[in-house]
Amino acid sequence: MADDLTRRVFLGSAGMALAATAAAAAAAAPESKDGKTGVTKIIAISCSPRKGKGTAESLQECLKGAKGAGAGIETELIDLGGLDIEGSVAAGVPLAKGRKDDFPEVAKKLSDPKVGGIIIGTPVYFSSMSSLCKAFIERMMVFYRNGGMVGKPVGVLATGGSRNGGQEVTIRSVQDSLFCFDMLVVGTGKRFGAAVWAKGGAANDKDGMTAANKLGRRVAETALALKKG
Ligand SMILES: Cc1cc2nc3c(=O)[nH]c(=O)nc-3n(C[C@H](O)[C@H](O)[C@H](O)COP(=O)(O)O)c2cc1C
Repeated sequence: MADDLTRRVFLGSAGMALAATAAAAAAAAPESKDGKTGVTKIIAISCSPRKGKGTAESLQECLKGAKGAGAGIETELIDLGGLDIEGSVAAGVPLAKGRKDDFPEVAKKLSDPKVGGIIIGTPVYFSSMSSLCKAFIERMMVFYRNGGMVGKPVGVLATGGSRNGGQEVTIRSVQDSLFCFDMLVVGTGKRFGAAVWAKGGAANDKDGMTAANKLGRRVAETALALKKG
């Protein structure tokens, strides 16, 4: 009972803090009066513990594709590699003493009202997402509670060390979780996400890079279309 109350208090205050941040950012954003023009931001999140490696490299290609979708697209890569994100906090378990928490900073960026779309990239770990990706999605509990992700376009990319290493089932497992946030899951048009084979660097996988570029473009195009109304 007490634990449940603690959790609800935590989630409530985290949600309120995010709402206040979003309101402040909205006031600062150079938007048109009808909100139909101005900057649309596409954020890619790399969920590999290895900063700057295959997943991050592939997401850069997604962001290149996003930029090509039209005027006013701004992009940012958030690399979770090396950051401390503990999933169990979402279940109300306090962080161990002295442990830092990098999620609030990430959540602040995602709460920016200019963010029109998101791309989540994960390495394939035994045919599923990385534990960092799972922890990140669990911490998105604040958005589950405050509805901050409802209707937001999201694309998923998976990077594996083998050609048929489970990229597609990994993409699907991430997408399954994203439906819980009522996000608008976007594919490449023909495939349901970008499957990359990062053997000796992601750039070697030409088909994977084409899919990554398309995925980014589709997420940005969808964000622009929604903004236009
Ligand atoms: C624990 C672990 C499990 C892995 N399992 C798979 C797998 O099932 N399929 C696959 O293709 N690659 C697998 N790999 C390889 C990674 O997916 C590959 O190295 C990928 O490029 C990692 O992404 P990164 O370069 O962004 O860190 C695994 C790697 C690790 C560390």
